[in-house]
Amino acid sequence: MAQKLVVGNWKLNKNFSETELLIKEIVDAAATLPPFVKLGIAPAFPFLHHAIGLVQEHAQIDICAQNVSNHDAGAYTGEVSAEMLASIGLKYCIVGHSERREYFGETNLVIREKVDLLLKNGVTPIVCFGENLTLRTNGSYLSYIIEQLEACLFHLTKEEVSKVIIAYEPIWAIGTGETASPEQAQEVHKSIRNHLFGKYGADVSEQISLLYGGSCKPNNAVSLFSQADIDGGLIGGAALNASDFIQIANSF
Ligand code: 13P
Repeated sequence: MAQKLVVGNWKLNKNFSETELLIKEIVDAAATLPPFVKLGIAPAFPFLHHAIGLVQEHAQIDICAQNVSNHDAGAYTGEVSAEMLASIGLKYCIVGHSERREYFGETNLVIREKVDLLLKNGVTPIVCFGENLTLRTNGSYLSYIIEQLEACLFHLTKEEVSKVIIAYEPIWAIGTGETASPEQAQEVHKSIRNHLFGKYGADVSEQISLLYGGSCKPNNAVSLFSQADIDGGLIGGAALNASDFIQIANSF
């Protein structure tokens, strides 16, 4: 059975004191969390170490980075390596978010390199896949997502891939207020799960957490999370408010 998980991707939001305040609010509000749910919080790079300290006492909450370099070390100004993230005890890192693919030109190959470095350093990758509106409208979204999945992950061994978390984020639903319907999200999640089954077998496919992301809010999380293959969410806007975020995490 896959771990239930809700991760807040804060993107380019919140300075140091705002980060500290919001994490404290989330930790307080998390007292109501069911024991089977885990939370991830992804603030900006400069605050990750401090954030880890703020959630240390809370077994259900871990800190997540939003990105990592596809290089190990060396002359890559401005980059942050997987080894650096591991050295502060970081648990998760988002990889291949559509905003990174679109605005920073990240390809499936780059994402695959990032996944490899994270796994090598013991940080759990949360790997994002999803189609744009054109692909959704012309009906080729499933084959596109499966292509992304294969290109980024299917070189991994069974043991490696079972450490990965997958997020389906339809680009047309990110920050638009337009959510995939529970049925639309379930169709893609089921297809990803089936494809993992075909390649790696039941043990692995049933164990990997598949998160949905794209305008997931307190008012639609219950119907999304009740779908058979949706194990949680990757939350943008609604994760910037502690009570909304915890309400989403309480929606299983
Ligand atoms: P929104 O929840 O703001 O649509 O963002 C989703 C997202 O991109 C999470 O990574």
